Amino acid sequence: MKIENRTFVVTGGASGLGQATVEHYHQKGGYVSILDLHVEKGEALVAKLGARARFFQCDVTSSESIAAAVKGTTDWVAETKAPVAGVLAGAGVGLPGKIIDAKGEPLSMQRIDFVLNINLRGTLDTIRQFLPTMVANEPLTPDGERGVILMVSSSAATDGQPGQVSYSASKGAVSAMTLPMARDLARYGIRVVTIAPSLFESAMTAMMGDKVRKSLERVMEFPVRQGKPEEFARLCGEATENTMLNGAVIRLDGAMRMPSRM
Ligand SMILES: NC(=O)c1ccc[n+]([C@@H]2O[C@H](COP(=O)([O-])OP(=O)(O)OC[C@H]3O[C@@H](n4cnc5c(N)ncnc54)[C@H](O)[C@@H]3O)[C@@H](O)[C@H]2O)c1
Repeated sequence: MKIENRTFVVTGGASGLGQATVEHYHQKGGYVSILDLHVEKGEALVAKLGARARFFQCDVTSSESIAAAVKGTTDWVAETKAPVAGVLAGAGVGLPGKIIDAKGEPLSMQRIDFVLNINLRGTLDTIRQFLPTMVANEPLTPDGERGVILMVSSSAATDGQPGQVSYSASKGAVSAMTLPMARDLARYGIRVVTIAPSLFESAMTAMMGDKVRKSLERVMEFPVRQGKPEEFARLCGEATENTMLNGAVIRLDGAMRMPSRM
C-alpha cells in the first residue's frame, strides 16, 4: 500500500519514535495527523513540516479526547481527499515500580493504572475509534487493502526487567492482541503489525539513569548502540507498504535480550 496522498494518524507523534514516523510518512508524500498530549512539540512539528500535517491535542486515556481528534482528522480528510490509511498507536509511557518494594509496600494501583491506561487502553481506544473511517475506505490496492494498524510493543513484553511489571503487562497485551485484531480486520483488508523495539533514542530513554543504560549496552549483540528513531520509522514504512506483513509482532532489537540484573 503506498503512502503518498494517504493520511496516517500517529499517537505520541510529537516525540521520539512517533515523531520519526510522522516525518517518514510526510517525506514519502503522506498526510500526517499528529495526536499527542504535548501541544508545544506538536505545533512545532507541524510548523516544521508545513503542508500535509495537522496536530490535534489528544489524551489517549480519554475517549472524548480521541473522538475529537477523529472528528478533526475526518473533517480534514474531507478537504484533502487523502483517506485515513493507517494508525500508529505510539503514545506510551514507562513508570518503573516493583510489585512489592523493599519496605513491603505493594505497587500502587494508581501507578499500575497510569501505565495500563495509556499503553493498553489508549492503544485499543484510538484504534477502535478510527476503524469506522478506515473500513469505509474504497479499496486502496488491487488486493482490496483499506489500511494498516501499527502498534508498539517492547522487549519488555518478553524479557521485562525488575520494576517493569506494569509496563510488561501493557506491552505483552499489545503483542497478544495483534493476531486476533488482524483476524477481526481481515475481511476489511486492514492489516495489523506490531513492532517490539529494544532500547531506542527518545525522550523516554533520555530519562533513564546511566546505570540502567550501561547495563543494557553490556548485553547488546550487534550493533552495540541504541536504535535510532529513523530505524523504527523505516520499519513502520515497510509495514505500511508491504502487504504480506500482517498479524506479526516484529522484534527490532539487534538480537538484544534484556538482563534480569543491572
Ligand atoms: N524508546 C525506547 O527505547 C522504546 C522501547 C520500546 C518501546 N517503546 C515504545 O515506543 C513508543 C514511543 O516511545 P518513545 O520512546 O518515542 O517515547 P517519547 O516519550 O519520546 O514519546 C512518547 C509520546 O507519547 C506522548 N504521550 C504520553 N502520554 C500520552 C497520552 N495520555 N495521550 C497522548 N499522548 C501521550 C508523549 O507526549 C510523547 O510525545 C511508546 O509506546 C514506548 O513504550 C520505546
